[in-house]
Amino acid sequence: MSEVVTFEKRAAVGIVTVDSPPVNALSQAVRQGLLEALEKALAAPDVKAIVLACKGRTFIAGADITEFGKPPRPPELGAVIARLEASEKPVVAAIHGTALGGGLEVALGCNYRVAARDAKCGLPEVKLGILPGAGGTQRLPRLVGVPRALEMIVSGDPVGAATAKDLGLVDHVVREDEGDLLSAAVAFAEKVASRRPLPKVRDLTAHIEKARAQPDLFDKARKDAKAKSRGGQAPLRCIDAVQAAVDLPFDQGLKRERELIAEAIESTESKALRHVFFAERQAAKIPDVPPGTPTTPVRKVAILGAGTMGGGIAMAFANSGIDVVLVDREAPFVEKGLGIISKNYASTVSKGRLSQAEMDARVGRIGGTTSWDDLAEVDLVIEAVFEEMGLKKEIFGHLDKLCRKDAILATNTSTLDVNEIARSTSRPEQVIGLHFFSPANVMRLLEIVRGEKTSRTVVATSMKLAKDIGKVGVLVGVCYGFVGNRMLHAYGREAQLLIQEGALPQQVDAVLTGLGFAMGPCATSDLAGIDVGWRIRKGQPKPPPGERYSGAVADRLAEMGRFGQKTSAGFYRYEAGSRTPLPDPAVEAIIAEVSRELGITRKPIEDDEILERSMYAMVNEGAKILDEGIALRASDIDTVWINGYGFPPHRGGPMFYADTVGLAKIHARILEFFARHGKVWTPSPLLARLASEGRTFASLDAQRAGVTPG
Ligand code: CAA
Repeated sequence: MSEVVTFEKRAAVGIVTVDSPPVNALSQAVRQGLLEALEKALAAPDVKAIVLACKGRTFIAGADITEFGKPPRPPELGAVIARLEASEKPVVAAIHGTALGGGLEVALGCNYRVAARDAKCGLPEVKLGILPGAGGTQRLPRLVGVPRALEMIVSGDPVGAATAKDLGLVDHVVREDEGDLLSAAVAFAEKVASRRPLPKVRDLTAHIEKARAQPDLFDKARKDAKAKSRGGQAPLRCIDAVQAAVDLPFDQGLKRERELIAEAIESTESKALRHVFFAERQAAKIPDVPPGTPTTPVRKVAILGAGTMGGGIAMAFANSGIDVVLVDREAPFVEKGLGIISKNYASTVSKGRLSQAEMDARVGRIGGTTSWDDLAEVDLVIEAVFEEMGLKKEIFGHLDKLCRKDAILATNTSTLDVNEIARSTSRPEQVIGLHFFSPANVMRLLEIVRGEKTSRTVVATSMKLAKDIGKVGVLVGVCYGFVGNRMLHAYGREAQLLIQEGALPQQVDAVLTGLGFAMGPCATSDLAGIDVGWRIRKGQPKPPPGERYSGAVADRLAEMGRFGQKTSAGFYRYEAGSRTPLPDPAVEAIIAEVSRELGITRKPIEDDEILERSMYAMVNEGAKILDEGIALRASDIDTVWINGYGFPPHRGGPMFYADTVGLAKIHARILEFFARHGKVWTPSPLLARLASEGRTFASLDAQRAGVTPG
């Protein structure tokens, strides 16, 4: 008897239950158990109909991703679904939680689907760089129509129960008066027990015939997918598979789907996206802060600074049901901040993505004040004022006097020393960095900066809080710029030096968007404002002798008032009302002049060199960060870059990317750059060691976690 799949009878209905925590993924044991339980149900003469249900938090959430890339172990999922579909007794899937991937494919192999009101159904495989490989691309179009199936499969986004019912994906959504899902599914099964013929999704033809009359359906889908996928191939493979449902008979379509998924699973893109999936979950695990570490409740938060960042952070909390108060020096600042928040919400409402009632509830959670007295009652304060150490220390000194002893005092600094800030209080153990990324209500990353004295409770509370407000929290240590901005600095430096040496902004940007970044570094500077870095650089000492100054071109642009998009001119020019960067001959002339002043003879630069210098500078810095213990794992660095800096997920993050290039190759190139460009290219000793041992960052992560890489 399988331990993970059981069979029981309720009158004339046989109930097959999967119970394989945490998410009932279709491991070999579950597949085997399903077949065995099904055979039992089919063999029992008094069983007239079968319900397939799951225990725990969800219906089957998909194939077991940990089995990917390993030798297949029978029974194959396709065989299990074929057996379900061939059942002589009606099978009803009882769906709660999330029926995802292989889980939804199992449900599609059943004759009927009954869903709880809060259930979700989806085929998210594309997000793992693959496609539904157990009939999903053949059955879903037959059931909901080709256009909707394409939408669901290519986006990977799930639909809620009500939409699923409208689409015909589920037959029944449990009503409040029907009791629990299982009782409703059993009642449904009793009702259909004697109905024949049994409905089978594979036999449906109407939607397929309709699609055959729309010859440009797939061309359009491919065009849209190419525009969005930034070079990822998985969406295109998904479309190929759905097209097979239209062009081929069912069994041949299944065969084509299998070929396509076999190709996809082996692709670097899929390996990268699977890495991203597990990296994100791994980031939540802190070796010396194990599950069960006490946390403190965070019910009310104060944010100091009602600017863009403060407002975005306030929205992130209010969106998750947490009360916030925005604090600023003067009433007009507070009012302006609250006004922008309301405007942002109103714009979401006008796009139909938020109801007015929900907007009102969220706005109602955000208060504003100029009085610091309100800080006495909050559980957490986040300081989001200018990046100026003196000011921050003064603020933390006040907070120390005003806030409850158990309140968490957080700074949103993006570069400054959290330990120094903590020392301006009498309770450094309560101080932590919570580094949000702008716009803070949208960006998923939260760098959680642990000071040398930060308590475990404060770390655990912050990690939990990140999850509660829908962010990916990554724990980092204290250094200038932490993980993300420190590496960004190295990446941006090379972009600027390449421009001084002979490249143009549009060439540098094209190489990096070619890799999959949504924007190149120059277009990003134009968006963020060239003046921001310029003002910061003005207050900093020039680089020491022997180190080149990378800010020369940006400084010149800023001095000319070319601040970027906001002045319609920066590294690019912009037509009125447009955000499209257009190459500007005036900029080429400015760059040539700066190069001349620096005594540099400009020469053509190959795209390969642009790619290598941008990426390897980042990887070298990442390796140093890892070596210094600023990041716990290489995969944490990847999580930072994917969620905070637009690194293309299908490349897996900078450290995963480095593994795919090969650390020995990267190290050798870094030595060449070191010889050519000097000490900024000093190779990381960790990188040198891994390269000489023929190892990868992934193997280092596995070694540190005490895991043998699979
Ligand atoms: N396989 C293996 N492990 C999985 C898994 C899967 N499909 N889905 C989740 N897990 C693991 C997670 O790694 C995590 O493990 P740890 O606790 O050790 O970190 C644990 O289950 C809980 O996951 P979450 O932290 O993500 O839990 P959640 O409640 O926040 O979310 C979920 C639950 C919505 C199901 C989410 O886990 C999820 O989206 N899972 C992936 C779903 C998916 O992509 N399915 C398709 C798989 S591919 C497929 O099915 C191919 C096919 O066609 C046959």
